[in-house]
Amino acid sequence: STKEALKVIISGAPASGKGTQCELIAQKFGLVHISAGDLLRAEVSSGTEIGIKAKEFMSAGRLVPDEVVTSMVIARLSREDAKEKGWLLDGYPRSSAQAQGLEKMKIKPDIYIVLDVPDEILINRCVGRRLDPMTGKIYHVKNFPPETEEIKARLVTRPDDTKEKVKSRLEIHKQNAEAISSTYASIMKKIDGNCSKEVVFKEINSMLSQIQNTKAKEMEPV
Ligand code: AP5
Repeated sequence: STKEALKVIISGAPASGKGTQCELIAQKFGLVHISAGDLLRAEVSSGTEIGIKAKEFMSAGRLVPDEVVTSMVIARLSREDAKEKGWLLDGYPRSSAQAQGLEKMKIKPDIYIVLDVPDEILINRCVGRRLDPMTGKIYHVKNFPPETEEIKARLVTRPDDTKEKVKSRLEIHKQNAEAISSTYASIMKKIDGNCSKEVVFKEINSMLSQIQNTKAKEMEPV
């Protein structure tokens, strides 16, 4: 495994823009994007044992039990591509038990990014969000409308994106956020997520480039 590979955790409230930024980050830095939510949604749609256990929690906007999520995420992190190219972990850890679990496995990120967005904007983003089931691309009816009528016709809404469920997801997020960020206090970078996606990415890009340079220098022979 390559030592200079970047290891990134991105966190933030529901709809703070994690998935949107991850698409840009993975593209630029070649990292393996590991989204706990995407992995779970894939398990649900293929009707696996994990999916069956996760489904009702997810559609209610509640957290899936740690023991269901943790082994799935650790397994993905342990695959060769993630070790080689580096990883970008999105939506995990989401509880202090999950954060402690990573620490115990000696899985330590270089940076812990937190996207900061006010509540009323988050609700709007969730209610307007649409997904393309064919490409996995994230859209928004107003902010990022689909490029063609063909894409528009196949877009789907997530069952947990109703106003009521978003409010409860936000509450759950707040209850957990502080406990997790204490684990990563020394590497935490808060970013204003209430800007255009390009502006948010510019900031993330400069932080990650800096870390990458530092790591490359550490690898140079003395
Ligand atoms: P998950 O899929 O992780 O959902 P989430 O954290 O609620 O995050 P979202 O996917 O809602 O938002 P996002 O931050 O990725 O925003 P996005 O880029 O899409 O988890 C879903 C469920 O799975 C959980 O509720 C739980 O049940 C379960 N789960 C997952 N992980 C778990 C774990 N570790 N433990 C237990 N259970 C777990 O953007 C949102 C919208 O805003 C889009 O429409 C987008 O186009 C738009 N947008 C994005 N950026 C901007 C911008 N800069 N300006 C304007 N609009 C923007």
